Amino acid sequence: MNQIVVLNAGGQYCHLIARRIRELGVHAVVADVSKPAAELSGARGIIISGGPASVTEATSPSVDRAIYDLGVPVLGICYGHQLLARDLARGQALVSAGTTKEYGKATLEAGDCELFQKISPAPGSSSRVFTVWMSHGDTVVDVPPGFKAVGETEDCKIAAMEDRGRKFYGLQFHPEVVHTEHGTEIYRTFVFDVCGCRQDWDPRARVEQVIADIKRTAGDRKKVFFLISGGVDSTVAFSLCAKALGRDRVLGLYVDTGFMREGDAEAMQYLKTAVGEHAVKLADRSADFFGRLRGVTHPEDKRAVIGETFIAVQEDEFAKLGLREDEWLLGQGTIYPDTIESGGARHAAKIKTHHNRVAKIQALIDAGRVIEPLVDFYKDEVRVLGEELGLPHDVVWRHPFPGPGLAVRCLAAETRAAVEPAAIALPPGVEGWNVPVRTVGVQGDERSYSQLLAVSGVGDAEAAGAFARRVTNEHRAINRVAVVVFQRAGAPFGRLAIHPAMLTPERIALLRAADALVTRIVRARGLYDAIWQMPVAMLPLGSGPGRETIVLRPVNSRDGMTADFARLPAPVVTELATALGALDGVDAVLYDVTNKPPATIELE
Ligand code: XMP
Repeated sequence: MNQIVVLNAGGQYCHLIARRIRELGVHAVVADVSKPAAELSGARGIIISGGPASVTEATSPSVDRAIYDLGVPVLGICYGHQLLARDLARGQALVSAGTTKEYGKATLEAGDCELFQKISPAPGSSSRVFTVWMSHGDTVVDVPPGFKAVGETEDCKIAAMEDRGRKFYGLQFHPEVVHTEHGTEIYRTFVFDVCGCRQDWDPRARVEQVIADIKRTAGDRKKVFFLISGGVDSTVAFSLCAKALGRDRVLGLYVDTGFMREGDAEAMQYLKTAVGEHAVKLADRSADFFGRLRGVTHPEDKRAVIGETFIAVQEDEFAKLGLREDEWLLGQGTIYPDTIESGGARHAAKIKTHHNRVAKIQALIDAGRVIEPLVDFYKDEVRVLGEELGLPHDVVWRHPFPGPGLAVRCLAAETRAAVEPAAIALPPGVEGWNVPVRTVGVQGDERSYSQLLAVSGVGDAEAAGAFARRVTNEHRAINRVAVVVFQRAGAPFGRLAIHPAMLTPERIALLRAADALVTRIVRARGLYDAIWQMPVAMLPLGSGPGRETIVLRPVNSRDGMTADFARLPAPVVTELATALGALDGVDAVLYDVTNKPPATIELE
């Protein structure tokens, strides 16, 4: 039986909810938001997820209102919280477009709510105050009949509400993201104490299940052809297929796109040793990728071109290797977030297209010609699988790297535009500049493509992060804030400009060198395993054409869905800034101090 059903209103974190509950040992499934109440009557609890729409619009996703009469506990999260307020309001308008949008961390002053009962009050106090993660524009302004408000933050007076009699609960924040303190405790209380679920789900059984699925999909004869990158996803997916089907029914091709990191090709050695020399091939196709990306500047266009090129190359190599379509499936290391952020769920907004979800691949998936063993898993679960398979630590814990590689991290521009003083009020001692580039973000479950603000004089990393949070909450046009940590003598940051620049082998070589330098320093300082991922990006921003700015983007995350920028010790920032500043062609170095949301992990 599905004990908990999560109704998907299109939120980026919807599946995270189901996962958190599975981690508690309780089977949870995700279903479409409009699933008829009659089909939900067997559930012990219903959760309505967040979503990008506004409940104030008539066409926004809705639940079958009969679910409120089932006698089953209902927990609304974010959009779900607002939906409860709308559906149970008896005619009043209880949800309005908030004047201050809230993204990222906030402090909840929790009241007497059944869901918070297991959370200990602060020492020496009877009140419970804890950090929660917000991502919303609309706000519940009053509670429906039967409810009482049981939690508030500075910008949101009704951040939690409950109707204990009917067992209905609404939370504006996201307990499922790791940045919300006590989030697991809140779900534990809902699932066990409110809904009365029992433990019936054991994640350790997953390897065997996945292997059984692969065997079923491939049948007795089909073989699997993979593009592999040396990253953890494709390595685990390939290893699983090799284990399920045997080493002679898998073939991995490492394609050098020209956008790989230093050391990526060497990472193939593990699979050659584990599966066999014959099962791993290499092809240098960088000329194809650079050729097709000529003149392409917009991040989504780059992703589309890269996705198409991957397919063209894969078809070409497939033919060159003399493989037959009726004998081979295409294997992909797609993981769950890749499908959500590409707009895979019905109501989810498209944040960006992952390279393994472009139209042609989708057609192959629809035709049953693709095998994706990791499609239900998040990054941290993939690592659990990798460890269970006995893969080496360095393979399992390598920082994630996106399929399109350095191409997305190397920004291009068509026209010249100068840096300008920031158009917003800044605290005394802080200098700020509008950098004339836009980068991708995710705000309130929707994609943004907005302004980058560079600052100096904001204090240490903690203070810089707090500043970034405030600015991005108050100014929707800004989705990313970065601190200037190096500017070349004679080239003050305020006088730099974006210059026309495309993706060229020379620019990528500089970015690759910068990335390798950063990795070496971070490893030498013992920080590599403490940071989840550290993209290094490059902007064509400098004192003249051909001059560049390097951006450091260290983050901590558990699954890539949300992230905290990583606080680097000040001496390490100085060491990185000095080393990068010494590279030929670099005029400035920035340290991105934005969380996700509102920015994405990649800077593109
Ligand atoms: P964002 O930038 O969306 O990244 O916050 C979340 C995580 O996903 C990785 N990423 C990708 N991985 N193919 C991949 O295999 C892709 O196209 C892709 N784009 C982003 C990113 O590096 C981060 O870990």
